[in-house]
Amino acid sequence: MAAKRRFRTVKGMHDLVGKAPVFAFVEDKAREVFSLYGYDEVRTPIVEETELFVRGVGEGSEIVGKQMYTFDDKKGRSLTLRPEGTAPVARAYLQNNWASGPQPVKVFYMGPYFRYERPQEGRYRQFHQIGAELINDSGPYSDVELLVMLLRFLEELGFEDLEVGLNSVGDPECRQRYSQRLREYLAPYRDELGADSRRRLETNPLRILDTKAPRERELLEGAPRLRDELGGPARDHFQVVCDELGRFDIDFEIDDRLVRGLDYYTRTVFEITSTALGAQNAILGGGRYDGLIAELGGPSVPGIGFAIGQDRLVDLVLKIPGASRRLNAEDHRRRPVCVIPIGGSYRRHGMELAQELRAAGIPAICEFDSLRPLKARLKQAVRHDCRWVVLFGEDEEKEGKIVLKDFYDRTQETIQRDRFVEEVAKRRASADSS
Ligand code: HAM
Repeated sequence: MAAKRRFRTVKGMHDLVGKAPVFAFVEDKAREVFSLYGYDEVRTPIVEETELFVRGVGEGSEIVGKQMYTFDDKKGRSLTLRPEGTAPVARAYLQNNWASGPQPVKVFYMGPYFRYERPQEGRYRQFHQIGAELINDSGPYSDVELLVMLLRFLEELGFEDLEVGLNSVGDPECRQRYSQRLREYLAPYRDELGADSRRRLETNPLRILDTKAPRERELLEGAPRLRDELGGPARDHFQVVCDELGRFDIDFEIDDRLVRGLDYYTRTVFEITSTALGAQNAILGGGRYDGLIAELGGPSVPGIGFAIGQDRLVDLVLKIPGASRRLNAEDHRRRPVCVIPIGGSYRRHGMELAQELRAAGIPAICEFDSLRPLKARLKQAVRHDCRWVVLFGEDEEKEGKIVLKDFYDRTQETIQRDRFVEEVAKRRASADSS
């Protein structure tokens, strides 16, 4: 009989095992910081109508054109695994009538997203984002506050060497005007452009600005600047954002080529990269989307937000010495005490001892397999990274004691059964402070 085939994760998708605690660590930090700024958590479904992204993110975008996991359900409705979180939040704003609640609406979210991209370091087909959206405030101070919150979050994770790129893509009229100027500028060089950029020349010339092709970059050096084409209100908005960020001591660089790959952006856009990641890997991106909710059939309601690539963020956090030290300390607190009942009839006692530890907030596991030699059971405790082991059997029951082993100090002591939880807690506390 042929051996049964074993299964592996789908290409570009991963099990998060060792990294799961770091994912939880950054999520906890996000909850803590974002709630200080009045943001509430929201969870939207993983599957949405395909049309939501086609209209929201834009037909001409790479995401909609090439990267969506789209399928028909049993009734023939076209559905899509969400490739991003902003269009779903805008849909939720309309569907749940958030307009009737307190304004502006401030929400954050986290979870898996899906894009059919070529997998490589830091680029996956199922990836994770932590994002936030501020809906219904068009003023520049919203942009500033959102960025201040974002940088506070990253600082609290221990980041220092971040590059904040900022730009304004203006209002639709400025962009239309600018697209025309860029078209005229690039027309004589049409034959020198790659196939993608030639296509974009017709559909969305702005996207040519973030080309990676060296010749195209060279050609763009002499191109008109989007910033010079901004109309008065967009220019004033951007000026306030830049001035105020300076006042909050936020270093940023105005990047004329930063246009973002999703079609809903208006005015302020930004990306943050870290020198520790490859040049093409932004940790996060975001910006203003003042036309999105109207595009989805709602009233004209402005918004701004960002999404952090959590997989990339976690890889970076693991490289920051300060952050990994804190993680290790937390990890240390999570390590369980191992209770080993000696002899089959003491298994229930073992379970009771473990329960008493847990009741005092001390993580505990119980090694029940009493048929194995004690040495093998102690080895399991080491493999579980336990520092302390509680041994309990016939002798201990008679004497009303337990034996406490410390693997780090290589010591062993006998402790009163009725005071053992207290004694273990004391030792854990003094290990924490040392
Ligand atoms: P985005 O730039 O498409 O923006 O994605 C945000 C971040 O998600 C990227 O900077 C990157 O770190 C991460 N990311 C994207 N694709 C992948 C992938 N295949 N593998 C790993 N990480 C990835 C948005 O999604 C917008 N919704 C952001 C936003 C919110 N704008 C306004 N509000």
